[in-house]
Amino acid sequence: MKGVVLAGGLGTRLYPLTRVTNKHLLPIYDKPMIYYPIETLVTAGVEEILIVTGGNNAGEFLRLLGDGKEFGLRHINYTYQEGEGGIAEALRLAEYFVENDKVIVILGDNILEHDIKTHVEAFKNQKEGAKILLKEVDDPQRFGVAEIEGNKVTRIVEKPQIPKTNLAVVGVYMYNAKVFDITKMLKPSHRGELEITDVNNAYIRNGEMTFDVLDGWWTDAGTFESLYRANSLMAKKKLKNIEPG
Ligand code: DAU
Repeated sequence: MKGVVLAGGLGTRLYPLTRVTNKHLLPIYDKPMIYYPIETLVTAGVEEILIVTGGNNAGEFLRLLGDGKEFGLRHINYTYQEGEGGIAEALRLAEYFVENDKVIVILGDNILEHDIKTHVEAFKNQKEGAKILLKEVDDPQRFGVAEIEGNKVTRIVEKPQIPKTNLAVVGVYMYNAKVFDITKMLKPSHRGELEITDVNNAYIRNGEMTFDVLDGWWTDAGTFESLYRANSLMAKKKLKNIEPG
């Protein structure tokens, strides 16, 4: 299984913090943001990783991460997304790297409390299709929101004004190699992007999507509020181990 970290985009929601640096290089407690999604992949047993960067200061990723030795990797692969045409456009750039393998994709601003090993193992044993992770949240209108019937996802709506559930789609997606055929058929959304939600809905329509509900906290870090939350949650998690009493 290959791993892809998507760290493109211009991070305009965080201006002026991102005017002279890339969002994924901003600190989350004691590490740059990009460390966390890489660690999530590595602890899930993924050994071959591609970072899709873009926008400003893409060269800094190489300076920061080098060949990935710090993460126990033999090597890290990099590619570059021009502009910010959406998550699914960034994923397209990984086709040459994934070839006919399965792939786990993680958004560069998604931070998770626990490892996702059990979900990745379950997907390894899944013959076809895709798997997503869902998490109950208080503010579902900020995310892709899943509608479910029994153990099936029936539809995902991207940032609905009136969400039908509070189940947000986490920015961790597991796909078979068919995903690249799907991304080639996408049309830009009203915000001018190729949407990962359209990719997931294509798998749902084919009856090839499974889901798990995530344990532990999860947050993105792409707005001031969520960046602050990510820092505070990570600080609490790490300080728990050293606080007296
Ligand atoms: O955080 C989970 C949510 O992420 C999902 O619930 C949504 O369904 C999904 O669309 C996405 O929503 P956002 O609108 O919050 O995504 P955002 O544009 O902030 O992009 C998230 C990451 O994806 C970003 O940190 C880097 C990567 N990205 C994004 C774009 C638009 C790219 O690599 N290239 C891009 O062009």
